[in-house]
Amino acid sequence: MVKRADLQRDRFYKAAKKEGYRSRSAFKLVQIADKFEVIKAGDAVVDLGAAPGGWSEVAHELVGERGVVISVDVQPIAKIDGVMVVKSDITREEESITAIKAALVAQGRDAVDVVISDASPQLSGNRDFDQFRSFELSTSALNIASALLKKQGNFVAKIFQGSYYNQFYKSVKERFRETRAYSPAATRKRSAEVYVIGKGCR
Ligand SMILES: C[S@@+](CC[C@H](N)C(=O)[O-])C[C@H]1O[C@@H](n2cnc3c(N)ncnc32)[C@H](O)[C@@H]1O
Repeated sequence: MVKRADLQRDRFYKAAKKEGYRSRSAFKLVQIADKFEVIKAGDAVVDLGAAPGGWSEVAHELVGERGVVISVDVQPIAKIDGVMVVKSDITREEESITAIKAALVAQGRDAVDVVISDASPQLSGNRDFDQFRSFELSTSALNIASALLKKQGNFVAKIFQGSYYNQFYKSVKERFRETRAYSPAATRKRSAEVYVIGKGCR
């Protein structure tokens, strides 16, 4: 029997192919950006856990030619015109911050308007362990965002729902004026992931 979630997956997979995005995840950022207006033309955006690059493609479209997108991942990312790639493990926070700052300077910028993170751990099959690894990645994304974002900057990060979710949401709430949680329609129905959005870095 074809499950509704499979039909939905097909819908976004087909749409990603039609629009020329490299991942169906691209539509999650399209939906988040549309609903929460976190990225605007001219912004400097840092995309953490960016491979293969669907979110970076969307971010590049949103910031336009005056904007900057820096994509960070441990995996290689095939070239995207107008996007700078930094190979780094985001849990090595200081190293990542140094590398991102160097990339920013190379682009003639000194501050970041938006940090987005779709970073996910390799799934082990152990739900508690995977939730913890997701929490670690989201926390590193938040720490990197705290070091780089300008005042009033915005933040989006994926986290798996579970024991650590409330703690992460609270940490985002402490650092941003407005905090929301959202599951875009492009998220698979059986997925435990949720996106936490922080607007207006304190
Ligand atoms: C779901 S994919 C991201 C998809 C991407 N947003 C897109 O639209 O193409 C999750 C990514 O997180 C990356 N990742 C996992 N752990 C990481 C780490 N410690 N540092 C950097 N990237 C990491 C993985 O390599 C993977 O590429």
